[in-house]
Amino acid sequence: MRRIAILNQKGGVGKTTTVANVAAALAIAGNRVLAMDLDPQAHLTIHLGVDSENGADGAYEVLTKSAGIAESATQVRENLWLLGANIDLVGAESELVSVVGRETILREALEEVADDYDYMLIDCPPSLGLLSLNSLAAVNEIFIPVQPHFLALQGFSKLLQTITLVSKRINPQLKVSGIILCMFDSRVTLSSEVKADIEKFLESAKGTDCPWSDAEIVPVHVRRNIKLAEAPSYGKTIFEYEPKCHGSTDYQQIAQHIATMTNGQDTAEETTQTETNPDIESSTPQDTEPETTCSK
Ligand SMILES: Nc1ncnc2c1ncn2[C@@H]1O[C@H](COP(=O)(O)OP(=O)(O)O)[C@@H](O)[C@H]1O
Ligand SMILES: [Mg+2]
Repeated sequence: MRRIAILNQKGGVGKTTTVANVAAALAIAGNRVLAMDLDPQAHLTIHLGVDSENGADGAYEVLTKSAGIAESATQVRENLWLLGANIDLVGAESELVSVVGRETILREALEEVADDYDYMLIDCPPSLGLLSLNSLAAVNEIFIPVQPHFLALQGFSKLLQTITLVSKRINPQLKVSGIILCMFDSRVTLSSEVKADIEKFLESAKGTDCPWSDAEIVPVHVRRNIKLAEAPSYGKTIFEYEPKCHGSTDYQQIAQHIATMTNGQDTAEETTQTETNPDIESSTPQDTEPETTCSK
C-alpha cells in the first residue's frame, strides 16, 4: 500500500481538492483507495458526498476509541473508501494529550488493513498539531500542495522542520515525494516566480540526507478551474461533476503521474541528519522561523 499525506499547514492551498480528485482518479483506474479526512472541518467528507453529521464512525473513533479502520471506513464509490471526519474530531487532540504513544495511533491502526488497499491518501488539517503528526507517522510519502501566490512559501521552513523531526524521531521512512502546484495560472508572473524558487530550493537539496532530497515539482500543474470549486457543493468529484474540464484532465494526469512514481518505501533508509536551514525563503522573505538544513 502506498501511504501518502497531502500536507500544508496553510489553508486554502488545494489539499482537500487534491485528495478527493486524486483518490477518485486512482480508484477509477482500478486501484483500491482509502481516503482519510483528518481535518475536523470535514471538507473531504462533504466533498465525497457524505454527511459529516450522521454520527457514523470515522477518524475520531479510530484515534480515540481504538476502533478499527475497516469498520470505521465507508465505501463511497467503486474502489474508494473514506475514513470520514465528524465534528468530534475537533476534540481529538486535547483528548489524546496525555496518551502515551499518541503520535503513532493511526500508524498502528493501519497495520491491520495494510493489505486491503493499494493507496491511502490523507487530507491533513491546516495545522501541524497532533492530527498532522499522526499522518506523518503513518505515511511514507508526502505531497505538498502549494498555491503559487504572494506569501506562498510563508511557513515552509516550519513545515520542513516538522517533517525533518518526524523523520528523525518517529518515521525514518518519511519522504517528500513532490510539490503540487495548485490553482496555477501560467499567465501570472508570480506563479512562475514561485515555481522557480521551489525548483531552486529542491535542486539545492539534491544529494543531501533530508527527507525532500528526491522531491520534484509534479510536472502537471492544477490550473485554476471554477468547476473544481463548484464540484464539492454537489458532493461530487470533478470526474462526476464535469469530466471534460481542465480540472478533470489535470487531476487525472497527476494521479497517473503519482502512480508511476517510485514508492517512497523502497528508497527508505535510516539517515542521520544535522540541524537545519533550508533557505527557500531567500527570495520570499516573509518567514523568520527556525529552519532546517541537511548534510551532503
Ligand atoms: N484548481 C482550482 N481552481 C479553482 N478553485 C480551486 C482549485 N483548487 C481548489 N479550489 C478551491 O479553492 C478552495 C480551497 O481549496 P481546498 O482544496 O479546500 O484547500 P485546503 O484543503 O488546502 O484548505 C476551495 O474552495 C476549492 O474548491
Ligand atoms: Mg481542506
